[in-house]
Amino acid sequence: MTKPIQGFSKLTKEEKIDWIVSNYTQDSKSARLILTRYWNTDTDLQKLHDEFIENTITNYYLPFGIAPNFLINDKLYAIPMAIEESSVVAAASKAAKFWLDRGGFKTTILGTEKIGQVHFMFTGDFSKLKNFFKSVTSKLASEASDITKNMVKRGGGISKIELRDKTTVLDNYYQLHCTFETLDAMGANFINSCLEQFAKTFKTEAQHFSEFNDAEKNIEIVMSILSNYVPNCLVRAEVSCPIEELTDDTENAINFAKKMIQAVAIAKAEPHRAVTHNKGIMNGVDAVILATGNDFRAVEAGVHAYAAKDGKYSSLTHASIDQGIFKFWIELPLALGTVGGLTSLHPLVKLAMEILQKPSAQELMQIVAVAGLAQNFAAVRSLVTTGIQEGHMKMHLMNILNQLGATDQEKDTLTNHFKKNAATHNAVVEAFKNLRNQ
Ligand code: MEV
Repeated sequence: MTKPIQGFSKLTKEEKIDWIVSNYTQDSKSARLILTRYWNTDTDLQKLHDEFIENTITNYYLPFGIAPNFLINDKLYAIPMAIEESSVVAAASKAAKFWLDRGGFKTTILGTEKIGQVHFMFTGDFSKLKNFFKSVTSKLASEASDITKNMVKRGGGISKIELRDKTTVLDNYYQLHCTFETLDAMGANFINSCLEQFAKTFKTEAQHFSEFNDAEKNIEIVMSILSNYVPNCLVRAEVSCPIEELTDDTENAINFAKKMIQAVAIAKAEPHRAVTHNKGIMNGVDAVILATGNDFRAVEAGVHAYAAKDGKYSSLTHASIDQGIFKFWIELPLALGTVGGLTSLHPLVKLAMEILQKPSAQELMQIVAVAGLAQNFAAVRSLVTTGIQEGHMKMHLMNILNQLGATDQEKDTLTNHFKKNAATHNAVVEAFKNLRNQ
């Protein structure tokens, strides 16, 4: 059995690789080859990547693709997407083209409020705690002014600090519930630094508050951290058109519109379907979030909490038919940044931002929401018409051919063949064997 290792992080990259391949792989020579093949020959670039995290032993590549022709508020975008799933970029591009011919996407920012909380325990009289909070509120802000001054200069900063009594959910539990405006920064570091300062001031001042008895003076700070649930950092994206413009023939268009409405109604009513429906939305959202160096785990957590905000997990998109107009829309909570973090370090992320014409955080929220809406439209459209497998398997065909070790010429022949035939896994393997035997 492999023994635990002390001081792994202090080893050089080569030593780390030696240790991992000799202890955890069967063929250490080929494992080493794979790890080193993914290194970048540009040593500065490699060093940059090595230093993003601890214990880097190689790079992990994902495809970086472009979905062009997104008309958003009358401006044309080509959207960069980093994703491994074969059909996502194709579906996004298809939906973009579809809506390009029907007026494009319209978006609105509904709010930009970020949230952070100091969680603390207090045993004593709540009315005294309220008095203390009133007396200390301005000091909370002023003692954090070193942290906030640059953000304030640019028009952001602390928006509000509230005292919240949470004792109905947990004995003795209270919060400083704080809201912030962080402009083009995602704001995690800014918010967490402010919160930690609030906590310090709050605890120290409590010790001198004359109305408190000894137990009350002893406020116990549990933790200070931003919340990734940002229901008031919200963006809306929508598309609409007269029903008859949805397809070439009016009867088909009416049926299609009705089916889209039914599909969304099912995703609203039924959590199993809602999760998959929303997963399709996140195919688009995460791909842009990753390409632009934002935190997809934060976005995922916040978006799914929002999907359950009414007490039951439900669809993030909505659809209606009103006076002959089909409308399809989404509202997403998205705390994003276009400055700081990876956005100013990672060369591909910087390029993605340039391709998006250097968006502000608000513009990026709109682009990401559009990518999610487009992806959902494409998925549900396939589901209620041809079924999803037709498109999926066409895109997956190349993965299967690569697994089989097909040559470029064989790939061409089989891609042509499967333009007219259903590309199931078995059918591809059969066709490949037949071709090799010919
Ligand atoms: C697959 O990645 C996403 C879909 O399952 C989404 C959906 O069912 O709406 C196709």
